[in-house]
Amino acid sequence: MTTAALLLLQSAAAIAGAGLWLAAGFTTGSSTTRADRRERLIVTALAAGGTLLLVVAAVGAFILAGRGWWFAGEKVVAGLPFQVAGFAAGAVGVSWWLRGIRMPLARTLVLGGGYAMAAAAVATWLVGYPPQPVATLLLGVAVLLGTGLTWALLTHRGRRALAGFAGLLAVLLAGGVGWSWLSDTAAPRIEASTAHGHDGPATDAATATASSTSSTSVSDLRTPAEAPGDVHRFELTAARHDVELASGDTVEAWGFGGDTVVGPELRVTEGELVEVDLANRDIDDGVTLHWHGYDVPNGEDGVAGVTQDAVLPGERFTSRFVADTPGTYWYHTHQAASEGVRRGLYGMLVVEPAAGIAESLDLALPVHRIGGEVVVGATDGPQSFEAAEGDTVRLRVANTEQAPMRVTVVGAPFRVAAVDGRELSAGDEVEHRSVRLGAGARADLVFTVPDDGVRFETDFSAASVVVVAPPASEGPDLAREVSDVPELDLLAYGAGNGDDGSVDAALADLGPFTAEGELVLDRMPRFVGGAPTYAYTVNGQVFPHIDPIGVREGDVVKLTVVNRGFDVHPMHVHGHHVLVLARDGVPATGAPLWLDTVDVRPGEVWELALVADNPGIWMDHCHDLSHAAAGMMMTLAYEGVTTPFEHDAHGNRPE
Ligand code: C2O
Ligand code: CU
Repeated sequence: MTTAALLLLQSAAAIAGAGLWLAAGFTTGSSTTRADRRERLIVTALAAGGTLLLVVAAVGAFILAGRGWWFAGEKVVAGLPFQVAGFAAGAVGVSWWLRGIRMPLARTLVLGGGYAMAAAAVATWLVGYPPQPVATLLLGVAVLLGTGLTWALLTHRGRRALAGFAGLLAVLLAGGVGWSWLSDTAAPRIEASTAHGHDGPATDAATATASSTSSTSVSDLRTPAEAPGDVHRFELTAARHDVELASGDTVEAWGFGGDTVVGPELRVTEGELVEVDLANRDIDDGVTLHWHGYDVPNGEDGVAGVTQDAVLPGERFTSRFVADTPGTYWYHTHQAASEGVRRGLYGMLVVEPAAGIAESLDLALPVHRIGGEVVVGATDGPQSFEAAEGDTVRLRVANTEQAPMRVTVVGAPFRVAAVDGRELSAGDEVEHRSVRLGAGARADLVFTVPDDGVRFETDFSAASVVVVAPPASEGPDLAREVSDVPELDLLAYGAGNGDDGSVDAALADLGPFTAEGELVLDRMPRFVGGAPTYAYTVNGQVFPHIDPIGVREGDVVKLTVVNRGFDVHPMHVHGHHVLVLARDGVPATGAPLWLDTVDVRPGEVWELALVADNPGIWMDHCHDLSHAAAGMMMTLAYEGVTTPFEHDAHGNRPE
């Protein structure tokens, strides 16, 4: 059974078990004499069924613990004691009640036991992982007060006792909400206090660097004025504009220029010095330019409230970086991104290798959704490109959407030549396979054009297809297949078996781990920006209060990302790429896979390696931007780096 299914089953059993015990409690009736046979049967059956389900829940918790303590921590340390205590109370209560003795107390015990079991079930959401002692304590006290209130009711204690218990319960509830609200008003946790992920000293070189840096501001981590390279300058103006789609619909878009949804493609050559002047005409929320997947110096990273202030209407900002890493990237606003990106503040960034591109046609196609249509490149309709039979084509695909996307090429075998801006060594050609791209991810698909041409498909839309074919041909006359063919597993793709070019060799090159970080992804009720929210959490907290992953320059960081929830989380690391080591304990065997966006599905555990070679304060967040806006953002922070920018000041809202 998959871990996600187990999580679901375990919770369902815990909830249903508590429900049956509560039902037993309510069925015990109000008579003070021994119940009739039918009632006794019903109560016994409910209690027995509830107990059985609790056993299932307990077994489930232990199996989950075997899959990883992250999945079961609170179920074992908080849930299980509640369930055991609840069962003990309930069993005593039922046996007294069946015999008709100590009636009000018997009924109180059955109901109180049910409350404890219910507390165990909700511990998954309120206590979470790592298990939160305060929440556990509050739940325990709530169970006791609820039981007290029940007892006062059943024994007709009078108004004062009732009001006492009810009042205390209300105070407890208010206290719990207040405690959660207070954590939302606490100071942001953006900078590293100490490198808390450390289990030992960093390497000598790193220690030397770390101790010699007293404190650096992100504003000083810019591309130096004298950086080498011919300047390649672009101007982007962020503005509202109406766009007429091929479907005939007009959408109110926000864009970086031009009359299409997508911003201009920025295509530069390795070795150039890129300068991008950003002006904001009338985007009231403000904008920034973030270079997704391009590992720029921190001060060029474009995160409002962390590396710069939002660029408000009438303001400007110039980003500069050296184009030293060929590959496929994209840019987008990182101010109010969950709305801005969706509305069109994005575009492609392609860095061509100095030696040129081997393929004869090179297309960069972001895939986006707006106004109910799927826009591939610049259009939501079908489109075609001409290429001669035998020509090779590089199709750079970016998922600029919020959900995972599957893509494929129909009509010819293709090779995944690069993922997230990093070439994959010697991947075989495949056919009738799809490639899954998490939100924010990119893949370069390379193929040779056959006489009938090929069709590029996404599972987002059957209408927005792209045909690449020789001038006379109509494109391949083949059935659509993207949703029907198996997914290519990139962890097992490409040459990786030799001593060189394997993941182990790549890892050995990095040296031993000197720091670690754990990201446990979940959903919990939390205050986010002052509002109660069913939030997306990392380690039980929400942005900007999640403890950063603290590192020192030179660290080799082991990152473990665990998805305890039921949503997919495309986790994006700024300023670095991570080497995929394993997923769900299964080591990656293909060509070393360096990603900036890791699509973590429910129940998955990813082990990653990151080299801390780019000092700064870097966002790590879910690229389903609605999740980011609901809390799922944190930082990877280098010791000694500080930021003068503030979340909420100057309108800064990176999410
Ligand atoms: Cu593509 Cu932090 O973003
Ligand atoms: Cu997410």
